[in-house]
Amino acid sequence: MEVRKNFGSKLGVVLAAAGSAVGLGNVWRFPTEVGNNGGAAFILIYLLCVILIGAPVMLSEFVVGRHTHTNTITAYRRLAPGSWWRFEGVAGVFVAFLILSYYVVISGWTLYYLIESARGSLSTDQDFTADFTSFVSHPWIPIVYAVLFMGMTHLVVARGVQSGIERCSKLMMPLLLLIIVVLVGCSFQMPGAHDGLSFLLKPDFSKVTTRVILSAMGQAFFSLSIAMGCLCTYASYFSSDTRLVRTALNVSIIDTAVAVLSGFIIFPAVFSVAGVEVNAGPGLVFITLPHVFQMAFSSYPLVGYLFSVLFYLLLLLAALTSAISLHESVTAYVLESTGMSRQKATLVVSLSCLVLSVACSLSFGPWSELKVFGMTIFELFDFAASKVIMLLSGIVICLFVGWRLDKKMVEAEVTNGGTVPFRLFRFYLFLIRFVVPIVISAIFVNELLR
Ligand code: PHE
Repeated sequence: MEVRKNFGSKLGVVLAAAGSAVGLGNVWRFPTEVGNNGGAAFILIYLLCVILIGAPVMLSEFVVGRHTHTNTITAYRRLAPGSWWRFEGVAGVFVAFLILSYYVVISGWTLYYLIESARGSLSTDQDFTADFTSFVSHPWIPIVYAVLFMGMTHLVVARGVQSGIERCSKLMMPLLLLIIVVLVGCSFQMPGAHDGLSFLLKPDFSKVTTRVILSAMGQAFFSLSIAMGCLCTYASYFSSDTRLVRTALNVSIIDTAVAVLSGFIIFPAVFSVAGVEVNAGPGLVFITLPHVFQMAFSSYPLVGYLFSVLFYLLLLLAALTSAISLHESVTAYVLESTGMSRQKATLVVSLSCLVLSVACSLSFGPWSELKVFGMTIFELFDFAASKVIMLLSGIVICLFVGWRLDKKMVEAEVTNGGTVPFRLFRFYLFLIRFVVPIVISAIFVNELLR
């Protein structure tokens, strides 16, 4: 069995964990949610959710991972032998596997759009909706791209924690941040940029309902990669001098900044082209934006070309670093529970996950009529993973760290044995013992009643 390595540097720790958090959820979901739910008012609520709910849960996952230095399933088993709590670890790894299966499908679309935009052939007939629909519903082309994307993820994870994940995060995250800055700059130069900004930033408190508050919390969870075993697994590679509180804060700040900046890229661009409708979700990045790229830069084709290539590259990098963390969450378990080599364990995870990915991809085309509880396979996976299991897991993690673990041990972990002061420890404990479980239960009930 391979010798367990830790991340080699502080920067590597933050960039790897931020790489997990910054993903497709930041770039397309957050801006649409902001736009539809009251602009700056939503951003404000979202920030509160990140600070009061997201960051404390993240810190709790760090505590479990770093204290045990093992994969998520073994971590809970070791901390609570023979009790029901151990299923929390199983849920985390299972949900990471499920999310990975559909995440690679959407990421495969991103890869396709990157290649098409680099070839300058994003749309030949101007009908972006038809192009998108015919691509995603094709029986095998999107599968090929999902396999290619999984191949990229596989190569990184197979190289291990330091030479794979850490090195790749140190390379890709700064590049991603640089692209964001360039694109924000470009977007601000566009003719109608001002309208886009006011759409994004005008606080409209009349749109804030409980449902909006609850969706801000759901978004914060997904975006911060909470409760999927990923952060717990990464924390198991933290060394004893990694500052957990500071890392959780840094990751939350980077993730939120990327989300807000993505809005600054997308909306000024979209509003600069009259008559383009703001779509939500995949439609925004795969239908609205290609249209915008082509229209807005018709007189400056080279700028338009670079803008679109950079945008899809940004999306691909964001997706890749997240997929790597999902993959590692499962691979670490397979590796450590079977004693397989890392290469073999990674292959087992990649191949078995691809079987589900094929089903997800087909559910946009030939299997679109196949419904379970009225949902396609893709919708079912997303619902089960990011609505049901993720939220339940979040509650369990907090209750586990807040009530089951020894308070002294938790305090020692977050303060590195008393060497790093954490004055808000009592407040943190109050949050994870009472506030977070109650609030997440509210989200859960809301999602189920939808
Ligand atoms: N946080 C990622 C995003 O915003 C998604 C993700 C969820 C990644 C869970 C890893 C674990 O897209």
